[in-house]
Amino acid sequence: MRHLGAVLTFDRRGKLRYWPHAELRTDARGRIAALRPLKAKGARKPSRLLIPGLIDAHCHVSQYPAVACDGLPLLPWLARHIFPLEERFRGPAARARIRRFFRELAAHGTTFAALYTSIWQDSTDACFEEAERSGLRVVMGKVMMDRHSYGTRSTTLKGENLTEVSIRQSCELCERWHGRAGGRLQYAFTPRFALSCSMELMREAGRLARRYGAWVQTHLSENRDEVAAVRRAFPSCRSYADVYARAGLLGPRTLLAHCVWLSDAELRKVASSGSTIVHCPTSNAFLGSGILDLARARRAGAGLALGSDVGAGPSLDLFEVMRQTVFGQRWAFAHRLFKGGGTVHAADAFRLATLDAAKALGLADSLGTLETGKAADFVVLDPAAWDPGFCADESAGAVVSRLVYRASRSAVRETWVAGRRVH
Ligand code: GUN
Ligand code: ZN
Repeated sequence: MRHLGAVLTFDRRGKLRYWPHAELRTDARGRIAALRPLKAKGARKPSRLLIPGLIDAHCHVSQYPAVACDGLPLLPWLARHIFPLEERFRGPAARARIRRFFRELAAHGTTFAALYTSIWQDSTDACFEEAERSGLRVVMGKVMMDRHSYGTRSTTLKGENLTEVSIRQSCELCERWHGRAGGRLQYAFTPRFALSCSMELMREAGRLARRYGAWVQTHLSENRDEVAAVRRAFPSCRSYADVYARAGLLGPRTLLAHCVWLSDAELRKVASSGSTIVHCPTSNAFLGSGILDLARARRAGAGLALGSDVGAGPSLDLFEVMRQTVFGQRWAFAHRLFKGGGTVHAADAFRLATLDAAKALGLADSLGTLETGKAADFVVLDPAAWDPGFCADESAGAVVSRLVYRASRSAVRETWVAGRRVH
């Protein structure tokens, strides 16, 4: 199949490229068969812009109905808005919401997402069924909790050992879904965070992820009260990151959301393990959690990606997350919150949502840029949605800058995954 339009992407050396007129061809296996610039016909601005599919490396399917519930920091927000919502996340009503969620994700230009469901096995199955139907790529898992879990109030788990149930159900789900749909669906063992897990549960999650070649995803060091509570809950561990290190949860297939308050030693531990830090700036701003020092994380050698973290993040829109990435770092830099480092630019944010994420996840052979041989995962945007039309500068830097600061979901015309239209 042949797609025409302007193209904005990074090339194989990570350099930003912009072609105002180009042709992208896809093959029957869903790969990019060819990408080449075309001769311009006249000086008209292009009406379509193709960019690589956006990667949302941290988001909660079950929390979409609770987006933008303002007013509380992390732990009270979880107790007040999130746990009651996730506890009810079952049955036909949940099914309708799940279907809607995946439609929304595709409508925002997201082609790959790492997702948490809820503690329920049945609604996690429903999430995988709807993910399969949506055509998107997902890494996803049932939330594991055996302490302070909303599930302890539910009659269905009465009398059963929460740790065993969580492990058994996660294994069944992994066996059913990991690698399905030609590898588009992948399983992630998902211990929620240290405060809702016993050491035994976390150890088992790490062991099973390695056994199945699956992923691990969890939250780390998001908010200061949470960090203090983890210290009290695990007094024999040196730090929050040390809890996960001792549980065997860190590694190249591990996604760690937030990592705002890590010490230097923790950051070194996370980076040397090959784990990915998922920066969620809209969520961190919304809950008043703090702000990740991106330059410091980069200097430590950590793999980095971006996450919407819906429902703490108020929107699935990764353009919004890219903007907040730049604005947050600039604000922190101006206030001298961080030692060393520099500010970030629009192209850095765009790279974080595409190529950097693919690299961090070990998927850069097939995802993250538009290049021959990679998966045909791309978004077709309407530049008229953000470009006032009289901007003279059509350099790659100017185009990415307008894109990051002015684009949104309303600019997304089509979303394609593996050469198939999913929106
Ligand atoms: N920490 C533990 N659970 C959650 C969650 O659902 N959202 C966020 N933002 N942080 C968490
Ligand atoms: Zn989260």
